[in-house]
Amino acid sequence: MPGNSFGRVFKITTFGESHGKLIGVTIDGIPAGLFINEADIEFELAFRRPGRLYVSPRREEDKAEIVSGVFEGKTTGAPLTVIVRNVDIISQDYAEIHNKPRPGHADLPYIMKYGYENWDYRGGGRASARETLSRVIAGAIAKKLLMLTNTMIAGHLKSLGDKGIDKVVSFEEALSSKLSPVRASSKELEKEYEDLIMKAMKTGDSYGGIVEIIIKNPPPHLGEPVFDKLKADLAKAIMSIPAAVGFEYGIGFKAASMKGSELADEIYLEENKFRWRHNFFGGILGGISTGEDIIIRCAFRPASSIRIPQKTLDLRTKEESTLIIKGRHDPAIAIRAVAVVEAMCAIVLADHALRAGKINPVRLEKDEAHVIEERWKEYMEKCGHTQASQ
Ligand SMILES: Cc1cc2nc3c(=O)[nH]c(=O)nc-3n(C[C@H](O)[C@H](O)[C@H](O)COP(=O)(O)O)c2cc1C
Repeated sequence: MPGNSFGRVFKITTFGESHGKLIGVTIDGIPAGLFINEADIEFELAFRRPGRLYVSPRREEDKAEIVSGVFEGKTTGAPLTVIVRNVDIISQDYAEIHNKPRPGHADLPYIMKYGYENWDYRGGGRASARETLSRVIAGAIAKKLLMLTNTMIAGHLKSLGDKGIDKVVSFEEALSSKLSPVRASSKELEKEYEDLIMKAMKTGDSYGGIVEIIIKNPPPHLGEPVFDKLKADLAKAIMSIPAAVGFEYGIGFKAASMKGSELADEIYLEENKFRWRHNFFGGILGGISTGEDIIIRCAFRPASSIRIPQKTLDLRTKEESTLIIKGRHDPAIAIRAVAVVEAMCAIVLADHALRAGKINPVRLEKDEAHVIEERWKEYMEKCGHTQASQ
């Protein structure tokens, strides 16, 4: 059974390959009346774009084209399709991996499952992280829709290699990472990350890291027990990102070494609203959002495509062989992954907000669409967007 679609009401289907003509997404279930244009989408795409210092040097402009579902600047309720044409393709860089699968990459499992003769090895084909561009497009629309509930999502690179691990980061600091080329939440961390990446670029090696997401003002009541719990859907969405190796929410894995008495999270009332003193479980209890900030972390492995020679098997001779990987690769996947994790969180939240009736799944009222527009503008400005940068 194919697995290229995700979501129940806000349902996305992604398509395209790394070195094919284009990459894109179709989203079904967006209510009518939402203002959407290419600039909204490209604003978010800029945060995962390659072709700059510290990330993959593949030069892609990532120009979005809305090809269906929008009329006179607003969604119609029909499926919305957006494509981005691939431009900077150098497929000959992948000639060697056609016969020598990269250790730690998806090459060999794809060959084993789909057959050598059917495998699109150019740029990693469908297993390439270029696919995550589709997710960021859908995430941009989901984020915009969530402005109706005043919900904002901010991610940052919590740690890279052994740097940054213990720092506690606020929502504002996470949002400010949009201004950092390495998605660091402070100038000090930015310098530490940049030094580490320069080291990786010199030696041809790569580093892993942890992405943290803080979701401000999530509506309460999101999540459908028992299999569609919010934590379960977030975990699936995030673990479907290439190179994701671990998911946690709230205090996460640390909870396993603590006592119940240490994790007792006092409930109190504030302005007639239920609150939890420590928010140990990151805004989700029983799989349902409480209204407290949702906190999520995802660990990313280092890229397996490194310039250091590796041992693999030559599929023609079936003998051990040395592989020297060419192509343009990320020295630290986790930097560009921040935008992808943000997008997947937005998609899950938008889906659940529609399912829980927090947003009318059929159409937005005019005043709602205008509120969204105002909040979106404020959000873009907070992320360093100016008229000049359009
Ligand atoms: C934003 C992003 C960028 C990535 N860049 C690279 C890369 O340059 N080179 C590479 O080998 N893997 C890269 N990956 C990871 C591979 O796509 C991934 O490891 C591969 O598909 C195998 O999947 P798995 O790690 O989930 O098992 C990237 C992943 C993401 C999310």
